[in-house]
Amino acid sequence: MSRSIERIKETWDGRAKDDRLQGTYVTMADRNQRMLEIDEALRYITPGKLVLDVGCGNGYSTAIFAKQAEVILAIDYSEAMIERAKREYGAIPNITFEVQDILKPLPYVEKHFDVAIAQRCLINLATWENQQRAIEHIARVIKPGGYFVMQEGTRQGREGLNQLREKMGLPRMPEVEFNSDLDETTLWPFLERHFEIVEVRRYGLYDLIARVVHPLLVAPAQPDYEAKINDVARRIAGAADDAGEVSRWFTAFLRVRPSSA
Ligand SMILES: C[S@@+](CC[C@H](N)C(=O)[O-])C[C@H]1O[C@@H](n2cnc3c(N)ncnc32)[C@H](O)[C@@H]1O
Repeated sequence: MSRSIERIKETWDGRAKDDRLQGTYVTMADRNQRMLEIDEALRYITPGKLVLDVGCGNGYSTAIFAKQAEVILAIDYSEAMIERAKREYGAIPNITFEVQDILKPLPYVEKHFDVAIAQRCLINLATWENQQRAIEHIARVIKPGGYFVMQEGTRQGREGLNQLREKMGLPRMPEVEFNSDLDETTLWPFLERHFEIVEVRRYGLYDLIARVVHPLLVAPAQPDYEAKINDVARRIAGAADDAGEVSRWFTAFLRVRPSSA
């Protein structure tokens, strides 16, 4: 499937300008999945921290992070997203929204931020080469001992979930044209060059309930993201970390090595 960078950007520009989409739905339809990720990230975005939010979209998550962080610089390459973020959350005093492309070196002092977060941004970069470049740009601006909170999708987790769905008589999840899930066989060795992998959190229980049990219960109707069972799935997945083999998404807490560039 062709995933050109231009088409991906057009998609995000279009979503930013679509007023039928509000709040979380501008960048993420599955509110429960997103809240699981946000709760996880907040463990590291703690008071006093200088934070970089990479691919902030309309700033929905940024605004929640800002309740705990000292200062947040939130960047996105979509001018329309940043315009919307400024309109919706620009009054929050400790957030600055700025247009920046993570594929270009960031114009910030190196080793500047305590924490950088990328919540479902790197899957939009079309190729592993681009994803590696973005990770290097991010690593450069984090202080030694600081953290990169990486919340992205994995090819293996999606495949595990699809195989389980097929065994249960459900179709494979539709491929999202502009998503390039990360391959864990190359991802972790690459990350280890810059970071110590402190913790990896997966959300398999959520995927199991929301993407297997829920569709089986309501078939032949389509499952609704806002159905109560997805709230329950989120509560269970928030309380227990398991079923990693069917988890499409992960949060990795990565500590910058002192020797990193
Ligand atoms: C799935 S949305 C995630 C937004 C938000 N972080 C969230 O959690 O919902 C991906 C965001 O990454 C941005 N993005 C994609 N490629 C980018 C790039 N090269 N540089 C900066 N931002 C990018 C898109 O414009 C979009 O707002």
